Amino acid sequence: MHKVSNLINLLGGTGMVAKRLNIKPSAISNWKKLNKIPNNKKNDLKMLGLEMNVRTDQYLTSKNFSNLEGSVLLIISGGIACYKSLELIRLLKKTNIQLDVVITKSAQQFITPLLITSLNEKKCYTDLFSIEDETQMNHIALARKPDIILVAPATANIIAKIANGIADDLASTILLASYSKIIVAPSMNPVMWNNLATKENCQKLLNRGISFIEPDSGDMACGESGNGRLPEPQIIFNELLSKLSLKKNTTLKGTSVIVTAGPTIEEIDPVRFVSNRSSGKQGFAIASELSNRGANVTLITGPVDIPLPLNLKTIQITTAQEMFEKTMSQLPSDVVVCSAAVADWKLIPKTQKNEKFNPNTKIKKTNEPLTFKTIKNPDIISEIANSKSKPKLIIGFSAETENVVENARDKLKTKNIDLIIANDVSNNRVFGKDSNKVYVIDKKECEEWPEQNKKSVAFKIADRICDILSCK
Ligand code: C5P
Repeated sequence: MHKVSNLINLLGGTGMVAKRLNIKPSAISNWKKLNKIPNNKKNDLKMLGLEMNVRTDQYLTSKNFSNLEGSVLLIISGGIACYKSLELIRLLKKTNIQLDVVITKSAQQFITPLLITSLNEKKCYTDLFSIEDETQMNHIALARKPDIILVAPATANIIAKIANGIADDLASTILLASYSKIIVAPSMNPVMWNNLATKENCQKLLNRGISFIEPDSGDMACGESGNGRLPEPQIIFNELLSKLSLKKNTTLKGTSVIVTAGPTIEEIDPVRFVSNRSSGKQGFAIASELSNRGANVTLITGPVDIPLPLNLKTIQITTAQEMFEKTMSQLPSDVVVCSAAVADWKLIPKTQKNEKFNPNTKIKKTNEPLTFKTIKNPDIISEIANSKSKPKLIIGFSAETENVVENARDKLKTKNIDLIIANDVSNNRVFGKDSNKVYVIDKKECEEWPEQNKKSVAFKIADRICDILSCK
């Protein structure tokens, strides 16, 4: 991080900042001494910066990338998304990570080695049989040097080559000759991604401990839409950093985490049900990010339309009661993150004469009104907070359409939990979308985070979990 003392000077000095933030000057002196701004004050400083026309972003980024070291080999294969790898190189150049880049022949149809060389200020490797490359750094040295080999974008072709041990060019030979951690970020047409051949190849890679940065869904450059889009460079960068810091042992290794996600379904009869619009995207992103950082994650999810994360233990449930039972059965756990939108009531349909229907047959449409008896479902997060094996850290979510922060604060208290992530879900702003705007509330503070991709929100929540656990 840039020097905190410079920022304080730009904002008018210790006395002035202390006055504006309503805190003691000694606290600010402490930040300057430690060169660290507490997370819960960053938003106030950002606001002060905006008011005084002082740029604060470079001082307020939560990660100190300059002390992140390590060695990464980026392999760019020939997907149309390889232009995104250029931005990824730019991001990596801001760190102290040593970066080498290999580009395949088909990727050179989209971007050139010269462009990569200018961005990386280093030779970009292209050929297996090049006297010049072999004398600078041979393919075995390229394979052995990095902590991590990242293939981004990874085409169906290179995934198939890795799966089958084919080594017919520099990239595939390096991948076969390496002991390093390999991460692939697939990018391809949705039909190719969903093809059984690709699925089987991916499964082979997973079985060998290769990790995936899973593709996003949305509109593709080829004009079709679906799953298979390369995530934005910042997302790939974040996941890479998590994996690198994991190698440096600064993470959640040995921490057990339960994440609940998605909606639950309450059946009315064998055909009809009551549920909600939760997509599971935010909870899945949190579970994947925590798993990236080495946590032992169990994801308990309701029925969702998004693919299940590849790398972690997942339990699928349907009703709130099932989610309750499965979640309790996974305790004890160090951390629990309840992002699921759990149905608050079970609905029992009744006839006009207060008679129950046979649950195994479809209710017939008649002119008689249908009535429901409601039975309250267990509040899973409260049950966990009041259980004998209460986790070290309990994080809840709060979806509201009005008085978002006040309602979330109430839940923090009544549910007896440590942190709550609140969002405004009115006007269908959040459910099913890729981005989220959240308030992060603990017993003392409320931080408002700018709207961002759900994977970035997950990354920051994981940072927060690491911070809290390291203080406990
Ligand atoms: O009470 P409300 O549903 O608004 O609280 C939301 C939080 O409580 C979320 O973290 C959600 O996962 C959790 N919850 C739960 N069991 C329920 C209802 C909500 O764990 N039955």
